[in-house]
Amino acid sequence: MTRATCEPDRLAVVVGSSEASSAIGMLRERGLLDKRRKIVRRGGMVEIPVLKEIEGMQIVEQQSPEHYIKMQELSDLLDGSIPEPLKKLLPRGWFILGDTIIVRIHPDLSEHKRMIGTALLRLYPRCRCVLADKGVRGQFREPCREVIAGRPAETIHRENGVLFKLDPMRIMFSQGNVKERMRMASLGKDEIVVDMFAGIGYFSLPMAVHSRPYRITAIEINPVAHRYLVENIRLNHVEDIVEPVLGDCAVLTPEGDADRVIMGMVGITDRYLRKGIEALRPGGILHYHQNVPAWQYPDALIRPPVHAAALLGRSAEPLGCHKIKKYAPGIIHGVADIRIC
Ligand SMILES: C[S@@+](CC[C@H](N)C(=O)[O-])C[C@H]1O[C@@H](n2cnc3c(N)ncnc32)[C@H](O)[C@@H]1O
Repeated sequence: MTRATCEPDRLAVVVGSSEASSAIGMLRERGLLDKRRKIVRRGGMVEIPVLKEIEGMQIVEQQSPEHYIKMQELSDLLDGSIPEPLKKLLPRGWFILGDTIIVRIHPDLSEHKRMIGTALLRLYPRCRCVLADKGVRGQFREPCREVIAGRPAETIHRENGVLFKLDPMRIMFSQGNVKERMRMASLGKDEIVVDMFAGIGYFSLPMAVHSRPYRITAIEINPVAHRYLVENIRLNHVEDIVEPVLGDCAVLTPEGDADRVIMGMVGITDRYLRKGIEALRPGGILHYHQNVPAWQYPDALIRPPVHAAALLGRSAEPLGCHKIKKYAPGIIHGVADIRIC
């Protein structure tokens, strides 16, 4: 219906189908598109919802505007149950690991954590458990997590076509390392690879599934993580590529013929550099992970492997460094790619 004065949340521009995409582009660019309503087609014409009248364009008042369903937000769901001043401390993000939601809760909200967990389960009906995350501890990098809603259980997380089965109460999975897992998926074709800190297969599995190395020796010291590594190798059908090894890489890393060695651990990684370097054939590549102060990046990341190679009478050529994630304020988790000759 053409209009004289009409309600602003019913205004729409009408154009022929052939002009629709350029009109939408122009309206979007000028910030005039009303994104809460759907663009609709009526009798060969297209109605584009707009925020105000636009000179030179045919305007109608929509009789039955179609609205997008607004995604409910966590703070809407908690209206009335959490004191208003605390609402600004509510988590703005969380990580969905299989069917488990992992979230960090601000300490001032701890007495409301169960309500927050329940609200998150309402937002994601396919999920069945919410865990409050408090970081990782020890050499096994075990997560410190508390159940705040639902029942914890093993889950299968799918990422980049790879399946990771794990118990989220006992096994970490770093959301921040996703770019590195993707990068590892593109390396290693036909190579002999050693993954010295394999975990449940964080790097070995994407590499095996997508690049199909000749062989990956995946060493893991934690029996729980090793059990999932074995199961994940089977789940991803890469038994012919990945050989899981239970034990300490300081003892079990094979010497000599690897084209590539992954040292995917932080904190203590430098203690294992001699083993990592000795595993490589001349010309092989080392992926050395470590946490370093942001202001010393990348020098502090490159120095230890170059120094360790020199002590072994090998030369080291830094090929590049990648920032993986912010580990703590002022601390970067990075990886240096070093060719060892
Ligand atoms: C949790 S991963 C870190 C993986 C990867 N950086 C990530 O976050 O996606 C490190 C793994 O190394 C294992 N690990 C620690 N010391 C080890 C050693 N000496 N030999 C073999 N595995 C070890 C830990 O048990 C742990 O599973």
